[in-house]
Amino acid sequence: MFNRAALFLALTFSFATMATAPSTAGSDDRALLVLNAAEATEVRSEMRKLLESVSEILSALNKKNMAAVEKAARKSGMVMVGQVEVSLKEKLTPTFMKLGKSVHVGFDQIADAARDGANQDKIINLLSEQTNRCTTCHASFGIK
Ligand code: HEC
Repeated sequence: MFNRAALFLALTFSFATMATAPSTAGSDDRALLVLNAAEATEVRSEMRKLLESVSEILSALNKKNMAAVEKAARKSGMVMVGQVEVSLKEKLTPTFMKLGKSVHVGFDQIADAARDGANQDKIINLLSEQTNRCTTCHASFGIK
């Protein structure tokens, strides 16, 4: 019984240490954007919409429903940029804005390709370039 309690304590302690210890191997060298709570919420909510588009594009592609691919891609295209608050845009660095814009342009390209009769392979190709842009930015930027 004692041993079990000791083991429990030891495990709890090591998990607690893991959760709070400064990361070494996983040290975070991303540039952190300093945003207020509302701005961080806006960026994160936009991000979830981007992932929704990726998910919807894949499932539409799987059904060879190109009209649905176009619709899913278009809503994350440049149309989304106009919906972002100007005060937030001013806080984003030029590199961040450039990467962000390339993602919106990329979604419009997917929408155009789907509209213009591109086949599944072509859309997959564009989508993989697109997810590459997501991971590139995620590797470089975080929110403080
Ligand atoms: C211009 C930079 C940039 C690009 C491009 C980008 N993201 Fe993000 N994304 C971020 C940042 C910054 C965060 C917040 C990370 C953090 O919390 O530190 C984030 C967070 C997220 C999250 C988590 C949202 C939450 O609720 O916490 C998702 C999901 C996401 N991104 C999806 C995507 C997808 C999908 C793409 C590509 C289609 C993409 N992002 C492209 C910068 C970017």
